[in-house]
Amino acid sequence: MKMNHHFSELPGSYLFSEVAKRVAAHRAARPEQGIISLGIGDVTRPLCRPVVAALAEACFEQGRAETFHGYGEEQGDLFLRQAIAGHYAGLGVRVEPEDLFISDGAKSDLAGLSELFSPGCTVLLQDPVYPAYRDASLLAGRRVEYLDAVRENGFLPLPEPGCRADLVYLCSPGNPTGAVYSREQLAAWVAWANAQGAVLVFDAAYEAFIADPALPHSIYSVPGSETCAIEVCSFSKTAGFTGTRCGYTAVPRTLQREGLNLHDMWLRRQTTKTNGVSYPVQRGAAAVFTAEGQAACRENIALYRRNAQCLAACLEELGIWFCGGENSPYLWLECPDGMDSWQFFDHLLQGAGVVGTPGSGFGKNGEGYFRLTAFGAEADTAEAVRRILRLYGR
Ligand code: MLT
Repeated sequence: MKMNHHFSELPGSYLFSEVAKRVAAHRAARPEQGIISLGIGDVTRPLCRPVVAALAEACFEQGRAETFHGYGEEQGDLFLRQAIAGHYAGLGVRVEPEDLFISDGAKSDLAGLSELFSPGCTVLLQDPVYPAYRDASLLAGRRVEYLDAVRENGFLPLPEPGCRADLVYLCSPGNPTGAVYSREQLAAWVAWANAQGAVLVFDAAYEAFIADPALPHSIYSVPGSETCAIEVCSFSKTAGFTGTRCGYTAVPRTLQREGLNLHDMWLRRQTTKTNGVSYPVQRGAAAVFTAEGQAACRENIALYRRNAQCLAACLEELGIWFCGGENSPYLWLECPDGMDSWQFFDHLLQGAGVVGTPGSGFGKNGEGYFRLTAFGAEADTAEAVRRILRLYGR
């Protein structure tokens, strides 16, 4: 066999491609109905001024011989890694610039990290789950096992007795459910991983949305995590970089398995497969951590939070069960009237021109659920709420 037949284990198309396909068909059939997308978690606020200024300045630097930059540093430019380490210090967490790798966003690293493991390894995921972990693991031929993330455990499963895996993906605040692990719950995962010799990949892409000061933003706030955890984060949702692309991954130099150092392995892998992120984008990303950049990002997140509150009030008025939206840009709701996820998707699209994401696309436990994002423009979100209320006769 010469071809990668694991492709046939995947759903026919990536979840968000399928949603986009159905929306395009609906738009062609009903061009008069303006569509409001609260589906894919794509931001709508533009890059803030300090970021744009830094990007532009760096582009001009690239156009002058005296300030021109060729290839950057292997792990990403030091000025950005230092700024990220400073951000961690502000969270009360110690991550050193030497542990950090700059990337083009979380997704490629989340998928690529499984290359540190042998083909026969077992990957443990939650169900429902961000489909990129699942699809990348299946494509690489990994054995994938699932822990149920259900209402009964607050969508926050913990390692069960007898639970065995080599690599575990955790996402907190969680995509799609918006649930956030407490420090004690993360400590249970860290203790388990260290005892088992497993590695945790912690996706912190939504950490900036945590409003509750008691909740942890980083796995590294748990002692012992430096010997079992890799953390992946992104500027996409925090600073509006979905179309600009930049993220970072911490692989502590203290993380070893079977006599191998995972930091050294990741460096070897990265230097083989990528020459990193462009100098202007790294300059733009570093500007996120200036006082002005932080203030602008906080303002945008406050706007998204108001959207979440507006959506939450709508669901409450309709008596629809939901969670999330408080420490996360995602609201996870039960489809009303016994509809399944795709039925409710069609109902909302046909009846209100509002797009969400069917929960079943995130796994079997997502069936009967639906995800809305708070990343829409403020006026669009308010209009979506009006349309949904009208659909239900309010
Ligand atoms: C989502 O909607 O789940 C995210 O936008 C996907 C992503 O960040 O790749």
